[in-house]
Amino acid sequence: RILYVPQDTAALAMGADAVADAFRAEAARRGLDLRIVRNGSRGLLWLEPLVEVETPAGRIAYGSVAPEDVPSILDAACTPCTDGAPGGATRGGAAAAGGAHPLCHGPTEDIPYLKNQERLTFARVGLIDPLSIPDYEAHGGFAGLRRALDMAPEAIVDAVTESGLRGRGGAAFPTGIKWRTVLQTPAAQKYIVCNADEGDSGTFSDRLLMEGDPCALIEGMAIAGLAVGATRGYIYVRSEYPQAERVLAGALRAAREAGWLGDDIRGSGRAFDIELRRGAGAYICGEETSLLESLEGRRGLVRAKPPLPAVRGLFGCPTVINNVISLATVPFILARGAQAYRDFGMGRSRGTLPFQLAGNIRQGGLVEKAFGLTLRELLYGFGGGSASGRPLRAVQVGGPLGAYLPESQWDTPLDYEAFLAISAMLGHGGVVAFDDTADMAALAEYAMEFCAIESCGKCTPCRIGSVRGTEVIRAIRDGRDRETRAELLRDLCDTMMAGSLCALGGMTPYPVLSALRHFPEDFGLSPASVP
Ligand code: NAI
Ligand code: SF4
Repeated sequence: RILYVPQDTAALAMGADAVADAFRAEAARRGLDLRIVRNGSRGLLWLEPLVEVETPAGRIAYGSVAPEDVPSILDAACTPCTDGAPGGATRGGAAAAGGAHPLCHGPTEDIPYLKNQERLTFARVGLIDPLSIPDYEAHGGFAGLRRALDMAPEAIVDAVTESGLRGRGGAAFPTGIKWRTVLQTPAAQKYIVCNADEGDSGTFSDRLLMEGDPCALIEGMAIAGLAVGATRGYIYVRSEYPQAERVLAGALRAAREAGWLGDDIRGSGRAFDIELRRGAGAYICGEETSLLESLEGRRGLVRAKPPLPAVRGLFGCPTVINNVISLATVPFILARGAQAYRDFGMGRSRGTLPFQLAGNIRQGGLVEKAFGLTLRELLYGFGGGSASGRPLRAVQVGGPLGAYLPESQWDTPLDYEAFLAISAMLGHGGVVAFDDTADMAALAEYAMEFCAIESCGKCTPCRIGSVRGTEVIRAIRDGRDRETRAELLRDLCDTMMAGSLCALGGMTPYPVLSALRHFPEDFGLSPASVP
């Protein structure tokens, strides 16, 4: 039998290693021939560790599994539950002849949380052994790179442009245009840099991808290299992701051994290789220019743009710098065609976004869907409402620089332009939910304080503004001359938005002002007095 026990950070945190050990020991005791595959997470984080048993009817899911559940799961696994009920009244029910188990969720693919997704970038995550090249190829891996090896650089860039893919790190800049700039900038050396410094609160899609399907990222980077004429790539992974780093290191080794990286990719005469670099824990190193500074061995200080990294980036050379998800989406586009990707989404937001549900939510996890669904569908259809059972009150979308949205805005389609129109942003797709006990003034203060702590210090509006902003919010919360100070806060936010050099100072006002605008009562202000 084959058994899948995830080895991603979330599952490990919930005791997946002990569960895998317990299966090994129990199988030995029973004389069972059991092969345990350490896969990535399916993204149903509230069910971790989610163990899957391979059966003729497909994979059957059990979760959350503890070591003491192992003997009874092995008993049930011989005649598995197939009722498909994900935690409902019939879960593990008598209908499933002999397979009943209280932790059985039926066939994994039928769990509505998974079944109702549109997984393009995450199609293989949780399905395959992340370190097995044969497994990756058996599930369509390297088909995109194979095609790219036969294409002219311009044709690769055209395909990415036509797909409508926009930067998934948060800024949503068209990936094809970025690549074209690098392609058209003559230089002896060019680079591909993957920004894996996923620092936004409540986000984890980069991590899930790197831990569950690292070869998709490797393949995407190799395609980018062929597209722009770069022979070297770097993955800058945050230090808080040691498991991702381990998996990536193993996958890079395996890809090199299989000839998909190196001086002569699969006998094509084309070269591309990747090095792994670890960050040192600074949020600002997720900003592309300070990431480049850090890669070059200096302190992560933001560089003024222009010149754009596409023209003068790493070591002064033209550089494609993209987020993990942007790069890991490229193999799908090359393998299946630009139109296949474009067919998903709405307006100018084409394709899918892996949303990450976190905070006070019953079913936290990863949901890859085409742009266009609403926040309400995400929060209730997938998330199942709050974890506390209390009414949800506010949702922060797009990380610590994203706006707090009140319920009146939850029917806005998840689309880059629709969110801009309500002074919000989708960013990297992080969605953090708060129930009605949340103090929005405290959260606004936290947002300013976060900026003060993480500011790189290069420009005054951010370095000084965030400290003064924290003081002003504290004074408002203390009830000192609230109306005048609210006006002062508004002014300060305007200055930060207009005068900051990068998004940290420039976007911290989003959460602050949205909290002030939509939840004035938490600041002790009446709606009429909010400027
Ligand atoms: P930006 O709008 O300045 O740039 C977007 C990207 O397009 C950059 O890579 C830039 O170099 C490139 N670009 C712009 N014009 C170009 C051209 N003509 N040719 C080639 N390339 C061009 O945004 P920025 O400052 O890079 O990112 C801000 C975003 O980062 C925010 O919206 C926020 O959502 C996101 N963010 C994400 C975090 C995460 O953990 N993923 C953390 C913090 C912020
Ligand atoms: Fe540095 Fe803040 Fe200015 Fe960005 S906005 S360059 S983080 S001081």
